[in-house]
Amino acid sequence: MRTFITGISELRTVSELGTIKGASLLIDADVITWVGPTSEAPAEAKDADETVDVGGRAVLPGWVDSHTHMVFDGNRAEEFEARMAGESYAAGGIAVTMEATRSAGEERLDKLVAQRVAAGHAGGTTTFETKTGYGLNVASEAEAARVAARHVDEVTFLGAHLVPPGADADEYIEEVVGPMLDAVKDHVQWIDVFCERGAFNEEQSRHVLEAGKALGLGIRVHGNQLGQGPGVKLAVEMGAASVDHVNYISDEDVALLAGSETVATLLPACDLSTREDLAPARRLVEAGVTIAIASNLNPGTSFTSSMNFCVTTAVLQQYLTLDEAIEAATTGGAKALLRHNVGDGKDPHGRPAKGTLVPGAAADLHILDAENAINLAYRPGMPITWQTWVAGKKVYG
Ligand code: NIG
Repeated sequence: MRTFITGISELRTVSELGTIKGASLLIDADVITWVGPTSEAPAEAKDADETVDVGGRAVLPGWVDSHTHMVFDGNRAEEFEARMAGESYAAGGIAVTMEATRSAGEERLDKLVAQRVAAGHAGGTTTFETKTGYGLNVASEAEAARVAARHVDEVTFLGAHLVPPGADADEYIEEVVGPMLDAVKDHVQWIDVFCERGAFNEEQSRHVLEAGKALGLGIRVHGNQLGQGPGVKLAVEMGAASVDHVNYISDEDVALLAGSETVATLLPACDLSTREDLAPARRLVEAGVTIAIASNLNPGTSFTSSMNFCVTTAVLQQYLTLDEAIEAATTGGAKALLRHNVGDGKDPHGRPAKGTLVPGAAADLHILDAENAINLAYRPGMPITWQTWVAGKKVYG
């Protein structure tokens, strides 16, 4: 099946091909085979099985949401309201969601995650990572991993999210690296740890990450969210693909990130909801660090899957340029998941890359109901996603 998409006012390839005005693209099944000015379209465009004219709208790669916690039940609206009245965020709230998630049942969790993926599609997201981490015992973490694997592109084991109430930290860690990891390993690609005061210290975090690494899992770290800490250093030292939050970072942390392949993932919606200062996006970019922007969808600190909102916030409040923010939410997120283009549109595993619109890459499109992408920030909060396509098929709009 070949699809010719034309009538594109502004095509943002997020690659060395740049932004093309008056553009078209050709898709063969799930992959892009050509992009360029419509006037240069190849002859086979005329023989495409389907031609779609988007009527002078802007097209960008679908958002790559590289940090979410979608497998949960319940909500923490009261905790949020208390925070808006002056309370601070503390990791302990995770235990409230643990109770609701443990008692939900697999069928209900499946339904909830499917709804959350559909909401992501409605906001232009085409690639999703999600984590376990609200089960916190062997059976519930395994259930969360199974549910996640049925719905998203990349699954992360986050048994080390919090020591469940009443448990001994060291005994719990041994359960995480032993039976829990064993129960989830066939459903996950990544291991993560909440390396923060009130959660896990450096030594415990390292132990968890090493256990995952020994099984061939990729590494990611929640770090430096609530205060200065060892998260960034540990992530870089262990070759993590990403360290997420990075609100409180030292000059040494920035230098370490700049000299590494570890992506710094910014979670602006979370920063607003927890009333932390927004992560220092400009400082990171100016130091040459690769950044990603993700939603951090979860019931405690960021109950939104809107990448449009996150990108807008990054522009309006973190002073990223539109280009920088779009890049962070597409190729940046893809790099944080090792799904980025390393050549010929392919990712490090040889699959169609995510977060870029070049020949060989996944035909994952976000079509805006606007002529150009600056409308994302210019018209904040307005409905702007017109259509979303995943692997050459329309999933929204
Ligand atoms: O990324 N920081 C740790 N985990 C989540 C919050 C979890 C919660 O409070 O439920 C986050 O913000």
